[in-house]
Amino acid sequence: MIPAYANFGGKIHGGILLSLMDKVAYAAASKHAGTYCVTVSVDGVNFLQPVEVGELVSLLASVNYVGRTSLLVGIKVIAEDVRSGSVKHTNTCYFTMVAKDDDGQPTPVPGLALETPEDTRRFVEAIKRREFKERYKQEFDNAVSALTVLNEPDLLDRERCQVVY
Ligand SMILES: CC(C)(COP(=O)(O)OP(=O)(O)OC[C@H]1O[C@@H](n2cnc3c(N)ncnc32)[C@H](O)[C@@H]1OP(=O)(O)O)[C@@H](O)C(=O)NCCC(=O)NCCS
Repeated sequence: MIPAYANFGGKIHGGILLSLMDKVAYAAASKHAGTYCVTVSVDGVNFLQPVEVGELVSLLASVNYVGRTSLLVGIKVIAEDVRSGSVKHTNTCYFTMVAKDDDGQPTPVPGLALETPEDTRRFVEAIKRREFKERYKQEFDNAVSALTVLNEPDLLDRERCQVVY
């Protein structure tokens, strides 16, 4: 990580890491699909520890799951201090990519060969991840559509805000 990647606090800018993750997700997805792919959604981006200038960052990626035209790529980011040899895990996240044909339409991708128990664990986890995401979205949409300040008067009392209109 070169100094040009640093933010004002001297740590590596989150956007640099996001950009690297996007490129790696693209490489993994397009290699499996045999087509160009686009990023549809990114889940689980949490910067658990800062990355320092001078550290060697590695991104480990695998295609964890495939649907008909979509692929879920898991990415683990680690940063190594090359002088001490210490390695820290900074982030694991999941990119949903969609394969596109030459007309820009979603196109089917090959199925996934699960070669190890670890592959199977990731595949099954991806199914659960998708189910939870859909359920969360449904529940959140329902909760928000039913929500008004008038029927939740206590909600803002505990927060650090003041209604001033
Ligand atoms: C993603 C995109 C291809 C979906 O197009 P669509 O006409 O809705 O196509 P479909 O409904 O057939 O969905 C295609 C696949 O994407 C998946 N998908 C669509 N929206 C999704 C979302 N928000 N999250 C996860 N997967 C999604 C569908 O489940 C489907 O997967 P499957 O074929 O494995 O079952 C389209 O919205 C697109 O091109 N978006 C822009 C992507 C882009 O340009 N990214 C770069 C950053 S700007």
